[in-house]
Amino acid sequence: MARMLCVGIATLDIVSTVERYPAEDDEVRASAQSWRTGGNAANTAVVLAQLGHRVSWAGNLGDGPGSRLAEQTFARHGVEYVRASRVRGHDLPVSCITLAEGGSRTIVHYRDLPEYTAAAFEAIDPGTFDRVHFEGRAVDQLQVMIRRVREAGVPVSLEVEKPREGIEALFEQADLLLFSHHYLRHHGHADPAEFLRSLPGGVVATCTWGQRGAWARDGEGAVRHLPAYSPPEVVDTLGAGDVFNAGMLHGLAVFDDLDRALAYAVRLAGEQCGRPGLELAT
Ligand code: FRU
Repeated sequence: MARMLCVGIATLDIVSTVERYPAEDDEVRASAQSWRTGGNAANTAVVLAQLGHRVSWAGNLGDGPGSRLAEQTFARHGVEYVRASRVRGHDLPVSCITLAEGGSRTIVHYRDLPEYTAAAFEAIDPGTFDRVHFEGRAVDQLQVMIRRVREAGVPVSLEVEKPREGIEALFEQADLLLFSHHYLRHHGHADPAEFLRSLPGGVVATCTWGQRGAWARDGEGAVRHLPAYSPPEVVDTLGAGDVFNAGMLHGLAVFDDLDRALAYAVRLAGEQCGRPGLELAT
């Protein structure tokens, strides 16, 4: 199994389950509520740890209840976070999430926590990992961090979920790019296969698009597609993209084969949509 470092955010997710998504100005009662640790990099780290890897997480923590819950979550899953930065007087970003029947998730996100910096990342020796996975956020900071990891000869994966000014400059720096449909849609790409083919030569990349499934492009530019895997009942799609990313990182580490990794990731993410939260079935 591999030593993996995930760099990005952890959040406090306050998840309320409702029968139907409420209309504006409605008052509805939730049938369940849970406080969970979320955030793309934290979610991917927690799943990778459950798949048996030695996982570390780096990002900013604060000193409020969200941060304490994140520490408990990491500890429970054996995710090491000793080099996370502590920003006093702040807490993690909070996502108020409404899960409606059928698994749709609507997120209202608030943050006042500063972004994790390249200066904080100096405390980490990337050479002690087999892979470093970055969440595509503050591009100026990422540029410096990614350069250090590459100089250490360690593979870099980059999640490109949302549009971020200038993030395209990082595409050639990563061994693996993990796109979500949010990014493609923002840039007017309706066809993931065509988009993936248009990436610079040599780049290996994936794209997920909910029920439409997932695509992967190999280093030669050839693209394959798999339909989404549907569990018997979809109950929770929150973090499905983060689970898919963990599945790809696991699949590539274990099989060293893009097709097998894609099939594994599609199945893992689909199965998880049939269960609440990110605890994998044992
Ligand atoms: C899911 C997620 C949630 C978090 C939000 C942050 O992918 O990481 O856990 O609240 O996205 O954008």
